[in-house]
Amino acid sequence: MKNEKIIIGSDHAGYNLKEKVKPFLTELGYEVFDIGTHSTKAIDYPLIAKELAKKIANEEFQKGILICGTGIGMSIAANKIKGIRAVVCSDTTSAKFSREHNNTNVLCFGERIVGEYLAKDICKIWLETKFAEDRHLKRVKLLED
Ligand code: RB5
Repeated sequence: MKNEKIIIGSDHAGYNLKEKVKPFLTELGYEVFDIGTHSTKAIDYPLIAKELAKKIANEEFQKGILICGTGIGMSIAANKIKGIRAVVCSDTTSAKFSREHNNTNVLCFGERIVGEYLAKDICKIWLETKFAEDRHLKRVKLLED
């Protein structure tokens, strides 16, 4: 156990991939909190994104993962909450640099876009990459301002 907790959420279009990613995160040693959805019954992604993003903004959690059909709606919605830096990723390089340079705190991807194994690789590299700080500190601060 890494002593690190991760919050995860999806809409109906991301539900099946969420269920595959969750045990993988547990295997990596994270304590996983699932805020739903809990079936493939249609649900509006902004509601899930808002609930998860608020828990990051108020520092209940440091990092969260959101899955929808494309990852796009989730990232747009999460980025509306102050303090959230959400990225939508379909590749591991973007996942890595989004942590190193942008200190992203929410990772989004789409079940209709990435397969199970790529999704797991994206999660692993995103979770394990540290913010580089240095010259990026000032830029991330500017995002907040
Ligand atoms: C749901 O059909 C779909 O629109 C949603 O999961 C997401 O992809 C939106 O960005």
